Amino acid sequence: MCGIIGYAGNRPAVPLIVEGLRRLEYRGYDSAGVGFVQGGRLNVIKAEGRLAALEEKLAHCPNTLAVTGIGHTRWATHGAPVERNAHPHCGGRSGQEHLAIIHNGIIENYQELKADLLAAGYEFRSETDTEVLAHLIAEGRARSASFLEGFAWALRQARGAYAVAVVTEEEPSVVYAARMSAPLILGVGVGEHFVASDIPAFLPYTRDVVFLQDGEIVRLTDHSWEVLGLFDLAPREKSVQTIQWDLQAAQRGGYKHFMLKEIFEQPRVIADCLAGRVEETSHGAAGRALLPELDALPVPSRLRIIACGTSYHAGLWGRHLLEQWAGVPVTVEIASEFRYGEALFEPGEMAIAISQSGETADTLAALRLVREKGCPVIGLCNVVGSSIAREADAVIYTQAGPEISVASTKAMCSQMVLLALLALYYAQRRAVPGAEAVRADAFRVLRDLPDILEAALPAMRETAQRLARAYASAGSFFFLGRGPAYPLALEGALKLKELSYIHAEGYAAGEMKHGPIALIEPDFPTFAVALSDNLFPKAKSNIIEVQARRGPVIALINPGVELGVEEPWVVPAVKGPLAGFVALPAMQLFSYEMADALGKDVDQPRNLAKSVTVE
Ligand code: M6R
Repeated sequence: MCGIIGYAGNRPAVPLIVEGLRRLEYRGYDSAGVGFVQGGRLNVIKAEGRLAALEEKLAHCPNTLAVTGIGHTRWATHGAPVERNAHPHCGGRSGQEHLAIIHNGIIENYQELKADLLAAGYEFRSETDTEVLAHLIAEGRARSASFLEGFAWALRQARGAYAVAVVTEEEPSVVYAARMSAPLILGVGVGEHFVASDIPAFLPYTRDVVFLQDGEIVRLTDHSWEVLGLFDLAPREKSVQTIQWDLQAAQRGGYKHFMLKEIFEQPRVIADCLAGRVEETSHGAAGRALLPELDALPVPSRLRIIACGTSYHAGLWGRHLLEQWAGVPVTVEIASEFRYGEALFEPGEMAIAISQSGETADTLAALRLVREKGCPVIGLCNVVGSSIAREADAVIYTQAGPEISVASTKAMCSQMVLLALLALYYAQRRAVPGAEAVRADAFRVLRDLPDILEAALPAMRETAQRLARAYASAGSFFFLGRGPAYPLALEGALKLKELSYIHAEGYAAGEMKHGPIALIEPDFPTFAVALSDNLFPKAKSNIIEVQARRGPVIALINPGVELGVEEPWVVPAVKGPLAGFVALPAMQLFSYEMADALGKDVDQPRNLAKSVTVE
């Protein structure tokens, strides 16, 4: 997730763009850059690190007079967060680059496109998918009658997600932009126009916006804007809307808190995690799971997953899939415990360090210990170039975009997608009998999930709000689940604790009768995950045991199920262990609404930090 802004108007473009990028920094901040045409020549200035580093560079540049330009703040997905990978990227034959592009998204087929462009004589300076788009547009221009046609031609070759903005020497006062599965908003001012990945970028200048749709191109000048279809280049009718948000609400995309925004981003996160990782086949067979980052490592005989907090819960969930689908035995360790244990490994074993931030001190220390023992470690991280990502033998990035809320939500969702892909990947490498059928099923579900969740989330939120009103005064909560739903119960309890400060315990439902059930009484509610899987009858009888002690029960169930609990919460049916993707946001929303109802500081709960870099 990166921040992009394009400007065509009458003010000095560069300071305006840098100021816009500052308001977008929450979208990414590992490098930044600007591009503009001045005196007929393309200029690109970029710097590694936070925006201040770019400003420092710009301070040493001669005054820029350009009134049109583009700017980018990056959250790396392809290529390390270094200056050569920062945006804008230039397109054109070496020494004749004539356009600059900024991009938010992931081009899935960039490797194929790059191979063609290399064969056609284009030279590459970065490892990014965006530079491929830059040269592809140059190639499109060379083949077409106008820049617009060349731009559209290039985008039609690209598969994946993008919001892009481009400046070209050919039309110095124009910004071209387009969107496909990534946000892009047009800002309509007086004598000036903007395009950006998020409204805050241009909010001080205009509140009049046009929301662009997938497959639309926009051409901006200071006095005009025009939206065209990507495939037919026909003009599209668009309406201008006036938004009332203040700056902070705009940065949260209109949501009350970043946590809520991030919960609602999960459909997009799932699609982004899958991008480029599922082989396309033309013959209807299940394509392979693609994790080229791991191809050079052997298939482990055993896996040790090491993590903390929510990432640990993702690991516990992933264990079920790795064992069930790939037949690889897995142990899941709490990093802070593991690092002071004996750390015994068998030959052939490998470890996975899961960490959103990639900086958690205990997970990093555990990774170092494992590597000292001669055991390879895979990092599963969200932050590109983080310590865990750098020190691991191989790294898989979750591509979830920056997570601002201290309570982790979309990061867990992305870790679950990657763990599912990993299980499918090892199953295919180990040639597990039946792996292709499991893969076909799993890919179908994973591809459907973004739409299922997109449709279900608003109603889930309403239910969570209603339940929060009814249960916010509870002093304690149990969260119960079995099998792959048990880690979700642990996560549900963690979320409730950290956000609302209500005491909560996550339990394997079958364990209740061994002690905890003694706590059940009418004012001690239980939140149970009771989705229709093979363990449903077992979960059901555990719920009946709770009810027999007059404990109120909220239960996540699938349509058509009768459970006779106080609060049946019906969520869409998803097959097998992937049902966790539906239970997870329901529990996140429940904790969110409980905390909000109690007036807690949702995004910054007391005593907690986003990244725990101390022991
Ligand atoms: O960055 P990491 O994934 O390594 O962070 C691990 C935990 O600190 C983190 O998940 C924490 O538990 C969150 N506050 C949970 O919402």
